[in-house]
Order: sequence, then C-alpha cells, then structure tokens
Amino acid sequence: MDLIQIKGGNFLEGEINISGSKNASLPMVIASLLTKDKVIIRNIPNLSDVSTLLELIETLGSEFELKNENNSSYKLIIQTKKIKNNLASYNLVRKMRASFWVLAPLILRYGEAKVSLPGGCAIGIRPINFYLSMLEKMGALITIKDGYVQASVRKNLKPINYKLNFPSVGVTHFFLMMSSLIEGESILRNAAMEPEVISLAKMLNKMGAHITGYGTNKIIVKGCSYLKGLEIISPPDRIEAGTYALALAATGGKLKLNSISIKEIETLRYLLENTDVNIKSHKNSIELIKKNRIIQPTDIETKPYPGFPTDLQAQFMALMTYSKGRSRIKETIFENRFMHVQELVRLGAKIELQSDTAIIDGVRKLYGAPLMATDLRASASLIIAALRAEGTSTIRRVYHLDRGFDKIEEKLKSCGAAIERKRDKNE
Ligand code: EPZ
Repeated sequence: MDLIQIKGGNFLEGEINISGSKNASLPMVIASLLTKDKVIIRNIPNLSDVSTLLELIETLGSEFELKNENNSSYKLIIQTKKIKNNLASYNLVRKMRASFWVLAPLILRYGEAKVSLPGGCAIGIRPINFYLSMLEKMGALITIKDGYVQASVRKNLKPINYKLNFPSVGVTHFFLMMSSLIEGESILRNAAMEPEVISLAKMLNKMGAHITGYGTNKIIVKGCSYLKGLEIISPPDRIEAGTYALALAATGGKLKLNSISIKEIETLRYLLENTDVNIKSHKNSIELIKKNRIIQPTDIETKPYPGFPTDLQAQFMALMTYSKGRSRIKETIFENRFMHVQELVRLGAKIELQSDTAIIDGVRKLYGAPLMATDLRASASLIIAALRAEGTSTIRRVYHLDRGFDKIEEKLKSCGAAIERKRDKNE
C-alpha cells in the first residue's frame, strides 16, 4: 500500500486542472445501463470508484472502452445490449455505495435483481429505507436476505407520488432512473437539488425521458418505454475544486483552477472571500490569491444543496484549525462524519466534539505527525492541514483518497507542495 508524505510550510502557486465529477459520473455510468444503445460519457475522472463501478457493470453485461482524452479525463464508450446477470455481488458493492443504484437498471431491464446491501465510506449508518419504500410503492416485491436486497416485478411497475423525509441525493437519482421508464406521471417531492441530480436528469432527457423540475425540490417525470443512446460530458468536480481552494486558503499563494467556473463552488465563494482569498472568475477557470496566512474563524453547518456540502466539511475544518479564534462546524447530513477530528488533533489541533458539532479553537501552528486516512474527504482534510503544518506528516491508507481525488499529490506538487507518494514499508 502507498502512503503520502508531506513537508509542510510551502505556499501553493500554479495551475490545477479539475477532473470530471466523481459524484456526477457514477450515476451517469449507471444510467447508461437503461438503454441497449451505445452511450459515450466524456470527462470521466481517473478514480478507483469509477474502476470499481466498471468492474461491477461488466459482470452485469456491459461492454466498455476507456480512452484517455487528456491527462485528467477519459472518454467512456459503453454499451449494454443485454443485461446478462442480475446479481450485484457483495465483493463489488461493499466497496462503494453508489454501486447499489444498479438496482434500477436491473429491475427495469431484467425484472429481477439481487443487489448486496451497500458499503462505502464509514461516515454514518446510511440506511436504504427510502429506496425500499419507494420501490414498494412502485409495485416491486422486496425481500432482504443474506445481506442482499432481492427485488422482483410481477406486474407492470406503477408511477408514484412520493415525498422524501430527507432530500437524499442517491434516492433522487434512483427515482429519476426508475420513473423515466415507468409509464405514467411520477412526482418526487422534497427531492435533492444537487448539481449531480441536474446532470443525471439532463442526461436522461437527452436519452428521451421527460423530466421537469430538476434542480427544484419537486421533480415530475412522464415515463416512456424506451431510452436511447447519447454522447454527453460529465461536469467538473466541484468538491475537488473546493478542496484545492481550501488548501490555497490554508497555505497562501496563488492558484488557477482550470476547467471549472465559480458558479460550481458558489457556496464556498463567500467563505473564501471572508478569509481574504481574492477570487477572479473567468469563463472556464478561477484564480485564487491569498496574500497572508490569517484565517478568520467561521461557523458553518452542512446542509443539502444549496447549503454547505458535507463533502467539504472535513476540508473546511482543516482550514479552521489555523483560524485566529473559535469556529463551530455542525454536521447535519451524516452522523459519523468526524473521523478526521482525532487525526487533526494528532497534528496539534484543538477540537472538541459535542454530538453533531465540532468546536475548533484555532492554533498558530500544527506540527507534522504520522496520520491515518479514515475516509475519502477526511484524507483530503489531513492533506490540507499537513500542507501548512511545521515538519513532516505521513498519511497512511491513502487508498481512500484514490477513490475520489485524481493524482492529488501530482497536482499539488506541480504547485510547489513538498508532497510525495511512497510505498508503505510497514504494511
Ligand atoms: C451522496 O451520497 C454522495 N455520494 C455523497 O458523497 C454525499 O456526501 C451525499 O450524497 C450527500 O451530499 C455519491 O454521490 C456517490 P444521501 P448518498 O442519500 O446519495 C439518509 C463523497 O465523499 N438516507 O443524500 O448516499 C442518509 O443516511 C460522498 O463523495 C436515509 O436515511 O447520500 C444521510 O443521512 C460520500 N435513508 C442522508 O439521507 C435512505 O434510504 C443523505 O444521504 C437514504 C439516505
């Protein structure tokens, strides 16, 4: 296994190409299974979550080719003429929660599905109750046995009028895929409004679906009987861009983020400006300049879009460890997304946890230490903290990072960070 070693203290200066979005690409790849036709998705990021998903859908009957288009993106040509297998095994689904969504094309095209209960980052209980109740309302028969969800369809599936208790991103994706191919009008209320939902809805519409209201909390889908192939581009990764912006805020310096516009990280804009990051917005790039190293303490609360994203909470906390006062970070989406706290404390951060809130008393300096990555975004938070810390930090279990950040060490190194990936001799 690899580790990442960082000698802190350098300013960041240079340009970073932002990759395609992980969380937009994964549902788009799964939606390609809804048609027999060829689907081309460009700007697919080079991530282990993408490889895991491709490995899974190959077992279901998909054939694909990945072509490297430039250093940071791939063109995926994919076709699923026939679903040959309705089993999504534990071995593959446990690695990544998004793979659970293959349940939709399996039910719609095979009539029966056996999908392992999902895994993914250990950030909370992450139940699947909304998926199951939605499916039951659509008329599927469901049993849970031996760690698998088994769903079958006896008669035609029915359109539904469904209100989510919480605007779940995954369940909204699932609703879009299912209802696009169920005849009649389906309505989802309290739907997620995340940009990734918009990307999926636009893709399905280009395939022939009739979806309106996406991007609002009420989505209406008029189902059709057939979806066709298409060519589409996955959007830039707003979480990757936000992570580099927060790294720059911590270290100071000058960064240009390419292939992304400021509207993708609008929720961060005010927070960055509040801590003296000067932002110049261009059509397809963002320039960020931070001349000093003073960080303003800031309280945030994670919220569904357009609120502050939970996927940037850990990275924002890393920044606040250096602030000149007290900040409070409340996590309202996942109940266990504070695993980075104990590692940040190992660097010398002062953080106290009070149920869903972290209270951070900023310190002038953190000091390099051996660290353990615990989940994807937590790993990025450790990198941000270590980039400014005095001395050297080593971060182990970086396979978590490879799930969602393409070549993070290369991108940061090209901007002056003293960061190396090495083989971990102790593993
Ligand atoms: C997506 O996960 C993202 N994953 C997550 O990204 C992201 O953190 C999350 O949305 C929230 O923005 C992908 O897109 C692949 P949810 P998802 O369903 O869809 C509860 C990352 O780091 N819930 O919106 O699984 C759930 O427990 C990650 O890239 C139920 O109670 O998240 C949570 O508290 C990790 N019952 C809340 O809803 C259900 O049936 C929101 O989860 C489903 C969800």
